[in-house]
Amino acid sequence: MKICVVGLGYLGATHAVAMAELGHDVVGIDLDSTKVGSMNAGKVSFHEPGLEVALREALSRKLVRFQKTFEMTEPAQVIFICVGTPQTGSDGSADTSFVMSAGESVARVISPETVVVGKSTVPVGTAAALRDQMSEVAGFPVRLAWNPEFLREGTALEDSLKPNRIVIGSWDDYSSQKLKEVYKPILNRGTPLVEVDVPTAELVKVAANAFLATKVSFINAMAEVAEVSGADAVELAKAIGYDDRIGNKFLRNGIGFGGGCLPKDIRGFVARAEELGAGEAVSFLKDVDVINQRRRARVVALAEQEMGGLKDRRILMLGLSFKPDSDDMRDSPALDIALRLAQAGAKVTVHDPVALNALGEKHPELIREQDLSAAARDQELVILGTEWSEYRAIEPKAFGDLVANKLIIDGRNVLDVAAWQAAGWRLIALGRNVHN
Ligand SMILES: NC(=O)c1ccc[n+]([C@@H]2O[C@H](COP(=O)([O-])OP(=O)(O)OC[C@H]3O[C@@H](n4cnc5c(N)ncnc54)[C@H](O)[C@@H]3O)[C@@H](O)[C@H]2O)c1
Repeated sequence: MKICVVGLGYLGATHAVAMAELGHDVVGIDLDSTKVGSMNAGKVSFHEPGLEVALREALSRKLVRFQKTFEMTEPAQVIFICVGTPQTGSDGSADTSFVMSAGESVARVISPETVVVGKSTVPVGTAAALRDQMSEVAGFPVRLAWNPEFLREGTALEDSLKPNRIVIGSWDDYSSQKLKEVYKPILNRGTPLVEVDVPTAELVKVAANAFLATKVSFINAMAEVAEVSGADAVELAKAIGYDDRIGNKFLRNGIGFGGGCLPKDIRGFVARAEELGAGEAVSFLKDVDVINQRRRARVVALAEQEMGGLKDRRILMLGLSFKPDSDDMRDSPALDIALRLAQAGAKVTVHDPVALNALGEKHPELIREQDLSAAARDQELVILGTEWSEYRAIEPKAFGDLVANKLIIDGRNVLDVAAWQAAGWRLIALGRNVHN
């Protein structure tokens, strides 16, 4: 099928490549000409394992091309809108202006047969407004469907090609049939299909993210209680996680969630629910957010407490991205903690296997170091902020020979406490052995 993908960020770039992998003929569009140029040259503007290889393969098979405008030799049958919906304003609401403006551009080039599909995460009700606006611009009733995306950065392409489920929300049968055609190879493998109305499709994504954020903050709340009661939140998580009604995923306490989705999506959800008069129903998400932020403050307080002050103290932050296998630092807990420490006067060195490039010139107060051993030299405190496998594999004895003081805060609860202690380290694991 002829497919067009509008917006080439994490979602759109991955989706365009995934569509080509399914054998479709894909045109990707972005306003950013640098992004368009690099995609055409086989380079993705962010770190995502496997994506660049798949992109090059698709380019060499002429299944995908990228451009700034909508001029096409043959019109697309399905157009996916994958532009950003960042947080806006102090109330945390989502900025849907990119979606509306992309929709306006799309409406100028489509025919009544074209199926437009929203994939961006939007406040419930956005699709209806978008359909009305597009229909007005196009001069005919535009076919619009919603198809939320659940990919996780770090495994984005794999998640796109082997999703747990496909959710299709539509107002008409023709649109849902076309989408089922798009996803035929995936559906033929028995992937569950959930067909719903459009508001449900919009809500599914924010509800899923709200649930995941709540699970993380739940175990972090347990960690807070564990820290003042001498209990162990890691063992507690293990014990409750065996109950398959609870499950052990997203149940490891630490410095909390971040990234370009969860934090902004729960805030946007609260703001939209309030607009609709259902604010009380999701007001608990404000607590979820507060618990999440409080873990970051906790690490800063611990660092200060352990070192008797922060001014001019040498601290190494291991990891900057919000999760491993990604260089995405949007609302990253590790970066936020590093900045808070630097703000308090500490000399903070940052290391990350891939994210230093993406940091560019931003935050000059942070000292960059590409080499892990050089980064460790003479540090008084090490904080593990992102659970890259490279950090899990650190040999504590040799690493300990480099630092000035063998003190580490494991912000992700991934290090082998006994091994680090045996190598002479004082290891503080959140929710485990932090006693006031
Ligand atoms: N990042 C993820 O893991 C993920 C997963 C699922 C859903 N989502 C959702 O997908 C959406 C996009 O997220 P992202 O992380 O890819 O955002 P992003 O900011 O990385 O990318 C958005 C892209 O859209 C482009 N753009 C904006 N307006 C445009 C227009 N009118 N025409 C063409 N291009 C335009 C921008 O230049 C940018 O390249 C958001 O709603 C997000 O919540 C993201």
